[in-house]
Amino acid sequence: MNAFVIAVDGPAASGKGTIATRLGAVLGLPVLDTGLLYRAVGVLAQRAGLDLDDPRAVGAIAATLTAGQLEDPALRTRAAGELASRVAIHHPVRAALLDFQHAFAGRPGGAVLDGRDIGTVICPDAPAKLYVTATPEVRAERRWKQLEGQGEAASYEDVLADIRKRDARDGGRAAAPMTQAPDAQLLDTTDLTIEAAADAARRIVEAARVRWEAAKAAD
Ligand code: CDP
Repeated sequence: MNAFVIAVDGPAASGKGTIATRLGAVLGLPVLDTGLLYRAVGVLAQRAGLDLDDPRAVGAIAATLTAGQLEDPALRTRAAGELASRVAIHHPVRAALLDFQHAFAGRPGGAVLDGRDIGTVICPDAPAKLYVTATPEVRAERRWKQLEGQGEAASYEDVLADIRKRDARDGGRAAAPMTQAPDAQLLDTTDLTIEAAADAARRIVEAARVRWEAAKAAD
């Protein structure tokens, strides 16, 4: 791969978004939160009154998605996360979002993409891959605090149930299931602060960059 692409995958509230943002800031790379694409498709499909279980109809919405539509604060809600995971099971939806993600990953200076299938399907040749995880209980606590900060009240038990349901759906689907790529480095953030997790990620990526540059020089 010519550009230095960093793939950051993992389940909901594992810390992958924060890690991707920090890596982007430290390395001066643009960051794409690919979850926002699925969230936008879910929210737009619902607003249009579509049947969310209809792959073709929802796929058609995905094909019209523009970068401007990713700015909507409604995409950050708990409900949008659930809608995203429902529409993300459809092959036509995933296919329609491929070009957008490939164009972002193909930027000459490199890029950071976070999601569920970046290291496995979107950028299988990415020189740096991380799979960020944490226990469902710790992830639920983080997500609960995050929602509270956004002014969205929810019980911890409900958020934990959401997380478990989403893990099962994202990992069990036929289309690009959430899974650790064989060459991705596992980063378990259960007992790590944000700072410690971001530092660990930076070290993994720096080592990958050294290997990538050595391989390029040897070509
Ligand atoms: O922020 P959180 O981890 O809760 O979710 P997200 O990254 O915004 O993703 C929302 C949903 O979109 C996930 O539960 C997946 O179903 C789907 N998704 C996906 O299928 N593939 C991606 N590359 C990113 C998200």
